[in-house]
Amino acid sequence: MDIVLSGIRSTGKLHLGNYYGALLNFTKMQDTSKCYFFIADIHSLTTHPDPKQLHQNVKNVLVDYLAAGIDPEKSVIYVQSDLHETAELYLYLNMHAYMGELAKTASFKEKARKQPENVNAGLLTYPTLMAADILIHNADKVPVGKDQEQHLEMTRKFARRFNNFYGVEYFKEPVAYNFGKELVKIPGLDGSGKMGKSEGNAIYLSDTPKEIEKKVKKALTDSGPTIPNSVKPDYIENLFTILRVVSTEEVVNHYEDQWNRCEIRYGDLKKQLAEDIIKVTTPIRERILEIHNDDNYLRKVTSEGAEKARERASKTIADVREIVGFKKF
Ligand code: TYM
Repeated sequence: MDIVLSGIRSTGKLHLGNYYGALLNFTKMQDTSKCYFFIADIHSLTTHPDPKQLHQNVKNVLVDYLAAGIDPEKSVIYVQSDLHETAELYLYLNMHAYMGELAKTASFKEKARKQPENVNAGLLTYPTLMAADILIHNADKVPVGKDQEQHLEMTRKFARRFNNFYGVEYFKEPVAYNFGKELVKIPGLDGSGKMGKSEGNAIYLSDTPKEIEKKVKKALTDSGPTIPNSVKPDYIENLFTILRVVSTEEVVNHYEDQWNRCEIRYGDLKKQLAEDIIKVTTPIRERILEIHNDDNYLRKVTSEGAEKARERASKTIADVREIVGFKKF
């Protein structure tokens, strides 16, 4: 049975990008694979180190996981900082990760630009911690959005390098996974880049229908095309990208047609888009409200999850210690 692993950082509430890039795939893989889903709270320290916020952020992601349909009876759900074995593997992998390649990573360069006052070593070694998350369970498939593709390439490189250096066939080379399809990138509603937890451009799974309508209404549009079949500007293409994931093919074709004939009615498009987003998020939001105060349940899920995750992780660490040459006197 394939081993599946993925995680989401605890840096805020989850949004449509997290859902279509990651979470929806998590729920689809639980019946056919051995799944590990964790909350990347150590990773979040690289950008969100406030100790007063951290626990609430971890709780938000945990509740969103459960509300979106990750079932603790089928999947192992745990908090990254509960599995010390990951931190230990991270340490060993760092001995075979080079400054140059880490500094070239797109996510490092972006973060260094965004927070020039805090370019910490954790940001630089973010990809080795991610590789440790994946390799500690020797995962085959890692369901993630498009922005994580480079990190997965690096994980494969680190696994290969470890095997070559020590002359073992120990780690497998995991792949970024989206059911044989292209990895997903959901854009923000502000016409720029991707939807992000801290970008102020997101629709959260916990947003009320009113909030969603308001956000969609505010999305940037224009007076419409004047030349038939013209290429859409980015901010319009973004609305269509979201429409393609939440709506039916028929709806998408209808608005593509309107666009191509220079008859696009943005008001109708936005109304339909908001309606279809609300259809997806409503059951999740209701479940969030049901469980977000059930601390006993949340404690049970995470403590049992950490225990189950440790079964495989402690074996990996024992093997790795032997491979790198640590011996008892
Ligand atoms: P994070 O928290 O940034 O994102 C979590 C997941 O959501 C996906 N995602 C998106 N997908 C499509 N469109 C978007 N706008 C969008 N925004 C976010 C991300 O691709 C990701 O799958 N490094 C990871 C966390 C992590 C991890 C791991 C993942 C730590 N260790 C090991 C897999 C395996 C991250 O940045 O998550």
